[in-house]
Amino acid sequence: MPSYEHLRAADPEIYDVVVAERRRQARGLELIASENFTSPAVLEAAGSVLTNKYAEGYPGRRYYGGCEHVDVAERLAIERARELFGAEHVNVQPHCGTSANMAVYFAVLAPGDVLMGMDLSSGGHLTHGHPLSYSGRDFKVVSYGVDRESERIDYDEVERLAREHRPKLIVCGASAYSRVIDFARFRAVADAAGALLMADVAHIAGLVAAGLHPSPVPHCDFVTTTTHKTLRGPRGGLILCRKEHKKAINKALFPGIQGGPLMHVIAAKAVALKEASSEAFRRDQERTVENARALAAHLVERGYRIVSGGTDNHVFLLDVGHAGLTGKVAEKALEEAGITVNKNTIPYDPNPPLVASGIRIGTPAVTTRGMGPAEMAEIAELIAGVLQAPDDPAALAAVRRRVEALTERFPLYPDLP
Ligand SMILES: Cc1ncc(COP(=O)(O)O)c(C=O)c1O
Repeated sequence: MPSYEHLRAADPEIYDVVVAERRRQARGLELIASENFTSPAVLEAAGSVLTNKYAEGYPGRRYYGGCEHVDVAERLAIERARELFGAEHVNVQPHCGTSANMAVYFAVLAPGDVLMGMDLSSGGHLTHGHPLSYSGRDFKVVSYGVDRESERIDYDEVERLAREHRPKLIVCGASAYSRVIDFARFRAVADAAGALLMADVAHIAGLVAAGLHPSPVPHCDFVTTTTHKTLRGPRGGLILCRKEHKKAINKALFPGIQGGPLMHVIAAKAVALKEASSEAFRRDQERTVENARALAAHLVERGYRIVSGGTDNHVFLLDVGHAGLTGKVAEKALEEAGITVNKNTIPYDPNPPLVASGIRIGTPAVTTRGMGPAEMAEIAELIAGVLQAPDDPAALAAVRRRVEALTERFPLYPDLP
């Protein structure tokens, strides 16, 4: 593990930031559904000398000399991702999930083409056609949501919209959706509308890799993901696709929208992908889902409402409006007590996104630390303690002490300063 002694000597201010953030991660309860803790091996690869190397192009066809070693890293990452997900082609260069999605759109859509994706307020992502994102600016967007009653995707409605608007590309996948996504049904919808199909599995990639969520790969033309959520790798993205799209995808990403790939991150992706093929990773993903279900169930027992009634994966939305709060108030009070979540709109939310009526809760990070069913019961109690008294500094301080006692039992990166 790095000791950061050089950083400390050269730049004490940034050293202090790193140490403070490491302490925050260690002493807090991390329940942000899109975060996780990478292994020390992933951290080392991401902090390696590979950051110094320019390698525009692809392995064996670079625009720079001296790429013989980084080529090995990129080929390993590609092969491991192909094997893990059973994909025909993989591009491991996207700097993030946003650029992975952009590359797919730019590979197959022209400005003005119809793109269909899930509404942000129903759990979709900004890049699935939101007006504030490139995806909502350059394309004609048709959005689908969830059913008001069941709060689940209404596949009949998705099909009706697709038949009516004839999108060129349909995007499925979400940032805040706790139910299984029926990729086979989306394929049938895409076929009925003559559309291509992309799944964005940024959130559930680890579950898919572990066989705990049906794979989109057999059903989709393109699958994109981030590598840093349930997959537990460095920050970054991946694109998987059928081989007939290989050329278009590679060209759309580089030189289309990115320059030199981040070779240190690609090496770290390779490490994470190797880890993700292990039995230990599969068990952790299983526990992540068990923990999410248990935490949601404990909160329901305490009278809280969970959107759609529960979860099939690693995440769920707690309707704090039902408890007389806003997401903004709940997020802030929980943060003061050492519990990190994010406010999130719930379906048909009367509040705007910066206020919101929900909080999004996820279990990947606490599961990586080794927490299990007993801790989920305790975390539910701690969350309830905060939500019952969000304005009471003494109550929040009491919860914070219990959070510190709990997290001390599950050390994080004990070798780091
Ligand atoms: C479903 C989905 N797609 C894409 C992204 C974008 O990923 P990034 O933040 O790496 O650009 C996210 C991130 O939250 C996401 O949840």
